Amino acid sequence: MKSPFILENQTEYQKWRDHKLSLYPINLKKLSVSFNNKNIDNDKINKLKDIVKKYNFAIYDFTSELNDNHLQNFCTKLDLINFVSNLLADSKGISTITDQANTKSKLSGIEYIPYTNKQLNWHTDGYYYPINTSVKSFLLHCMLPAKSGGENILLDHEIIYIYLRDHNPDFIEILMQNNIMEIPKNKNIKNSQSIIGPVFYTDEDGFLNMRFTLRQQNIIWQKNDMIKQIKDFIYSFIMEDNKYKFNVLLKENQGYVANNILHKREEYTDGKNKRLLKRLRFSKRIK
Ligand SMILES: [Fe+2]
Repeated sequence: MKSPFILENQTEYQKWRDHKLSLYPINLKKLSVSFNNKNIDNDKINKLKDIVKKYNFAIYDFTSELNDNHLQNFCTKLDLINFVSNLLADSKGISTITDQANTKSKLSGIEYIPYTNKQLNWHTDGYYYPINTSVKSFLLHCMLPAKSGGENILLDHEIIYIYLRDHNPDFIEILMQNNIMEIPKNKNIKNSQSIIGPVFYTDEDGFLNMRFTLRQQNIIWQKNDMIKQIKDFIYSFIMEDNKYKFNVLLKENQGYVANNILHKREEYTDGKNKRLLKRLRFSKRIK
């Protein structure tokens, strides 16, 4: 089949688009699967994969605590094996997401918003990577929620693609240019280099991926007459109350897996024990 993500292939796009939009509205409960720790059966794994196939994310929960090995096994069952590491992840590629604002960072005291209790603006994971080492999927697992706040808000990136393209196909053409968004080099990291790439691109299997952040600092957009218009359109779509956005306040032993959709995190307040999440990122999607 011809790719719906090539602008000339309007028939294929229309078919794909109509099907995609027909999946909404949907209740978040229908996007969740419950697992028993002792018995991660294949039917449930397939159910989870089915949900991801349609919505690019799915929620799961377990009956009791998962340690790092359990989490890794769970990912293996989802065929998520090739992890993408980062400077703050451990040797298995697992990041511990907790408020470390008052703890001395491993990276010479630089504050990284994910590791604080602050709001984390809309983004896809690893938007600062080049597309050949990009993050295609991730798992975010809650070990302990905050006393209050810390909600995640999720939006399938394919939906925003559709709204942009329907509004103005030129927007898509611009966002698929290989030099449209630049992340300048990080002066605090030795040998750091600037990364230039597209916002939307298709991978080797023909799936649509998105590199994006709503942050204003440390992003250089290529000069183009339409960039401001595009950014404003994305901003207003993300901000409006619509049936495509899902608010997820993860409970203990609950998490979500996603094909690197757009997401944000609200600020939170810790109780006696700190909010604690685990995150694993992968170079392949959930299929
Ligand atoms: Fe993220």
